[in-house]
Amino acid sequence: MTQDELKRLVAQEALKHVVEDKVVGVGSGSTVNLFIDALASIKGRIEGAVAASEASAERLRRHGIRVFDLNSVAELPVYVDGADEVTEHLHMVKGGGGALTREKIIAAVAAKFVCICDASKRVPVLGKFPLPIEVIPMARSYLGREMLKRKAQPVLREGFKTDNGNLILDCHGLTILDPPALEAELNQIPGVVTNGLFARRGADVLLLGAPGGVQTLKRKG
Ligand code: 5RP
Repeated sequence: MTQDELKRLVAQEALKHVVEDKVVGVGSGSTVNLFIDALASIKGRIEGAVAASEASAERLRRHGIRVFDLNSVAELPVYVDGADEVTEHLHMVKGGGGALTREKIIAAVAAKFVCICDASKRVPVLGKFPLPIEVIPMARSYLGREMLKRKAQPVLREGFKTDNGNLILDCHGLTILDPPALEAELNQIPGVVTNGLFARRGADVLLLGAPGGVQTLKRKG
């Protein structure tokens, strides 16, 4: 099976978690694009969606799915999103597409986070994928120096602005042994909007596309 076929498999599987007549949270990225396409097949059975990026919102609308502002949604039973790396504890690195802030907000609101990935995203320890950090532009150099102190090599994502008008520093070379602790620590650096560690609110369910089919992992405890 190709990587795209594995992504399509988990995208289809995620439909089983969508709650009828409710709004569904939709993340961003290539796996989520396939989920949006699958969602179109049941669009008459959902109220609509909230989207973590302008690109996802646009794709949802093109399929005729109503897109709500998160502020007008009181209840969000499920959020479906991809990841750049994920561990067996369902801690993730996200933000490869730069939508991490909106993704983290929607994940916080949702009752259940369903992560959809192909098996290449599963890792024993987070950090090989450079950790994205969204930063207010005037704090860019300060954050870079703070990350050097933490033994990371920060690289400005060239020519990129987030949907919120900020910058991304991709931080290479980290070995993240305690994801919830590092997530909290980085959030304390002035100028940081969001870091790409999703550990304090990790996924509840991981659907991993592997050649033998979809593996389902659930958060323990
Ligand atoms: C975007 C994300 C995506 O979920 C992540 O980059 C995975 O994307 P893909 O499904 O294309 O591999 O966090 O900010």
